[in-house]
Amino acid sequence: MEEAYPSMSRRQFLNFLTGATVASTVVAGLYPAGQFFLPRPETDEQGGILAKDIHGKLIPGSQILAAPAHSRALVAGLSGEPTYLTVTEQGELHPWGIVDNCTHLGCTFPWNGNANQFQCPCHGSLYDAEGRVLRGPAPLPLRLTHAKIEGDYIRLSPWTETDPRTGKTPWWV
Ligand code: FES
Repeated sequence: MEEAYPSMSRRQFLNFLTGATVASTVVAGLYPAGQFFLPRPETDEQGGILAKDIHGKLIPGSQILAAPAHSRALVAGLSGEPTYLTVTEQGELHPWGIVDNCTHLGCTFPWNGNANQFQCPCHGSLYDAEGRVLRGPAPLPLRLTHAKIEGDYIRLSPWTETDPRTGKTPWWV
C-alpha cells in the first residue's frame, strides 16, 4: 500500500476511501432531489414553457406551421392550460397564444373558423380572432401568452406587458 501511495499513511488512505465513498453516496442521494428542484430544460426563468400536446409530448413547431394560414392549434400551455396558437397569413406563428378559458365562468370553447370567432358554448359569449369580446356575458378579453418558435419547438411565456388589444395593463397581471 505504501508503495502505491507513498505520500499517504495507511490510515490516511483508509480515511480517503471512506470519505470518497460517503461523498459519492451523498451526491447519488441528492441527484434525484436536485433534479426535482432544478428547472426542466423546457422551463425558463421567466416561467416560459415549451408547448406540449395532450399526451404531454413536446410539439414540433413545424407540425403547427404545416397547417393552413389562419388555422388554430390547441396546445397545453402555461400551467397546462389549453392555449390556441395561430398560423398567420404568411405561414408563421402568431406571437400571441390565446388561453382557452372563458372570462365569464371559465368554460373552454372551440374556434369557429367559418365565423372567425371563439364561441363559448356555456352562455354564448363570442370573441373575435384575437380574443376581444364581441358579445357577453364575458366581461373581459381572453388572456394572452407570448408564443414563438424556439429551435424545433414552441415557447410560451407569460404576457405581462401592455395588452395590445386594449392599450392597458392586462387584467390578469
Ligand atoms: Fe363562457 Fe359563460 S363561461 S359564456
